[in-house]
Amino acid sequence: MPESSQFLFMTCQVGAEQTLKSEMARYRPNFRFAFSRPGFLTFKLPEKHHLTDDFDLHSVFARAYGFSLGKVAVDEADPVAAIAEVWRLAEGREFKALHVWPRDRLAPGEHGYEVGLTDESRVVENLLRQSAPPKLESLREKKITQPGDLVLDVVVIEPKLWWVGFHKAGTAVSRRPGGMFDDIELPYEAVSRAYLKMEEALRWSKLPVRKGDEAAEIGCAPGGSCQALLKRGLLVTGIDPAEMHPAVVDHPNFRHLQMRGGDVKRREFRDVRWLTTDMNVAPNYTLDTVEAIVTHRDVNIEGMLLTLKLLSWRQAEFVHEYVARVQSWGFGHVQCRQLQHNRREFCLAAVRGAAHPQFAELQQRAEEKMRRIAKGKAAVKGRPAGVTASDERSPKRGAGPKKKTKSQRAPKSE
Ligand SMILES: C[S@@+](CC[C@H](N)C(=O)[O-])C[C@H]1O[C@@H](n2cnc3c(N)ncnc32)[C@H](O)[C@@H]1O
Repeated sequence: MPESSQFLFMTCQVGAEQTLKSEMARYRPNFRFAFSRPGFLTFKLPEKHHLTDDFDLHSVFARAYGFSLGKVAVDEADPVAAIAEVWRLAEGREFKALHVWPRDRLAPGEHGYEVGLTDESRVVENLLRQSAPPKLESLREKKITQPGDLVLDVVVIEPKLWWVGFHKAGTAVSRRPGGMFDDIELPYEAVSRAYLKMEEALRWSKLPVRKGDEAAEIGCAPGGSCQALLKRGLLVTGIDPAEMHPAVVDHPNFRHLQMRGGDVKRREFRDVRWLTTDMNVAPNYTLDTVEAIVTHRDVNIEGMLLTLKLLSWRQAEFVHEYVARVQSWGFGHVQCRQLQHNRREFCLAAVRGAAHPQFAELQQRAEEKMRRIAKGKAAVKGRPAGVTASDERSPKRGAGPKKKTKSQRAPKSE
């Protein structure tokens, strides 16, 4: 039986390293930060950590993580010794899957960069598969990782440095190399990269959206995320004071309410089942807008995908408050993740239902906070609840309201 590992590795977005360290310091204070490169960190575990191979880190900012087995120096001209070292580190464990991926190079969207597998990581993966030892010969063939599979992880940190680790697959993201949805592509006709964010958010959250469902997106211009919803056959109401791309406006299942989210009449949401937001404003401003909609008695939103922009990384400290606030509206099932296509923001997915007991205290605290904010609101007139003067940012203003009524939307296409 191999010794249990005393270190964890984590991969994250470039720029999120400090936020991930702070997240660990807050929720896992007995993990000691050990090593980092942009997009990659390791932590030393306490002597008796009692973590099982399939433990859930409950992290928003770690895209992938596992137990560390060690680093491997690579001679690029002759990687044979490095490959042998990977298999030596893997000895004694019955791996059923192999995940090889590169650490991120840049922040998503920076200079056109998108996070994902690279030619280099694919070459390393092929070399490893071809050389898998007889005891692990099932790794020679690439298969879909199944829940419960013990996964050998190899992170290509630099051409000259690989990091080896392992985890047990469970959730959809842990079954994918690096927690990445590498098969999502930006279609030629997509009008913005928000298409990628929406597609990833839908796959990660498994929100049960169905063809013919009504969805509304607040902060929808120019329209990439609405295109992802329309492609799945949803009827989409886009709300944004800015202009939409003509390709989206002309779609028969789309209507544009050219105004701010807070100015839309509640009755417009009566048949909406799924609410998504992507406003370039502070998280509490987004949550104020959403709260006014979902807590209205005539509105029955079943699930939400909220992109919460971090105007500064420090706002990540308040994720648990944002979660508790959403739960206080009756959305008991909330999960958060910085998606591979998110920039300095994260996705909050929420589904209506009873809160998990572990969130009850958070919910109570959020309700108390809301009461305090409501009192303060009377004093600071005109500023949305929870938004401080420093983090408030006015949304762009477009031309005056240009509203298409529901009846202007073409009949549902089958
Ligand atoms: C990141 S862009 C949205 C991208 C969009 N989801 C897409 O798919 O292309 C942010 C948008 O939020 C909009 N916005 C900001 N505040 C808003 C508000 N209060 N109501 C509606 N839209 C708002 C801005 O006008 C801007 O178009």
